[in-house]
Amino acid sequence: MYREWIVKLTDRARFSTICLHAGQEPDPSTGAIITPIYQTSTYVQDELGKHKGFEYGRTQNPTRLALENNIAAIEAGKAAFAFASGMAAIGAIATMLKSGDHVVVSDNTYGGTFRLFDKVLSRYQLSFTYVNTSDLAATERAMTPATRMLFVETPTNPVMGLTDLRCAASLAHARDARLVVDNTFASPYNQRPIEFGADLVTHSTTKYLNGHSDSIGGVVIAVRDEDIEWLRFVQNAEGAILSPFDSWLVLRGTKTLPLRMQQHNANGLAIAEFLSTHKKVQKVFYPGLPSHPQHELAKKQMRGFGGMIAFELGSLEAARRVLNGVRLHSLAESLGGVETLISHPATMTHASVPADRRAALGITDGMVRISAGVEDIEDLLDDLAQALDAV
Ligand SMILES: Cc1ncc(COP(=O)(O)O)c(C=O)c1O
Repeated sequence: MYREWIVKLTDRARFSTICLHAGQEPDPSTGAIITPIYQTSTYVQDELGKHKGFEYGRTQNPTRLALENNIAAIEAGKAAFAFASGMAAIGAIATMLKSGDHVVVSDNTYGGTFRLFDKVLSRYQLSFTYVNTSDLAATERAMTPATRMLFVETPTNPVMGLTDLRCAASLAHARDARLVVDNTFASPYNQRPIEFGADLVTHSTTKYLNGHSDSIGGVVIAVRDEDIEWLRFVQNAEGAILSPFDSWLVLRGTKTLPLRMQQHNANGLAIAEFLSTHKKVQKVFYPGLPSHPQHELAKKQMRGFGGMIAFELGSLEAARRVLNGVRLHSLAESLGGVETLISHPATMTHASVPADRRAALGITDGMVRISAGVEDIEDLLDDLAQALDAV
């Protein structure tokens, strides 16, 4: 089955070819080269007990299926399941747990993930330990006989801490636990966790996979048959599916993922280098800089260093001047779109994280985050330079 849907691809197909073609073939009834938006709730059956593989829109949809097969191939998985948001995808992963189970989680995980675990799932006799997963010894110490999942984000948002994926997979597997990687920040162009031993990968497709800031969605990619069977069941049972239109948008987005990521990576690195020599900037967080404490690990497990950069200006007032002074950078939450966004983690994305926890994670009031888009780099640097002049 794994190969069937790679249609015209040979076993040797490379990444950009996979992004463009996997999961898709010309529409059998018209030859349309682009998978249509199958905006339908049900499917007419040929006769009682005989149908074309599609019965009801929550259970199966051809546009969604094309996207799921496309992303499964992109992430080197066996199957993928698309959900209505990144959080719905993480919620589906959580249904693999049973009461009494324990999960070890990157302490700097996305705030929405922390909220789901801490405020919702902890009501169901599930327990969570938050640990700096960059520190493998601490991660191992956090594991208990009840640990069934190690849930990591790498790089983390916004301080760009990395977790060694191969070591994390070994730690999890030694305890019969799954390694789950939220790969939203890196994108599969830069990092493919399954190749390092991850069992499950998840994305907010809202970010790099769709890439155009016009859709909310999520996906889970799996490799083990039992996980695939369960996720297929849960996607239908809970029903938090990605719509046909959003599936189509993301499928359009993945066609240009490699091209966009090359530009995001180039712009990210150029912005990080510019900021690291600017006298008003105290510190830059970017895994592509040799000064990043885990630069060697980044080179080992990432193909590019991404478009996300954080930097420290020393005070809320300095951060405010830059955030209010930029013209081309848009002040907004989210990331991974073609246009460059700038944000203030302490009061925006991480406002729900208690102040003491923020301080422990290194998220200060003077920190600014950039999601580098694909504009001409000179224009982005000019804009940053004029905003920094006001500090
Ligand atoms: C790393 C990460 N994971 C998951 C999510 C949740 O995704 P969504 O907003 O699509 O529900 C986000 C959203 O910002 C994220 O940054």
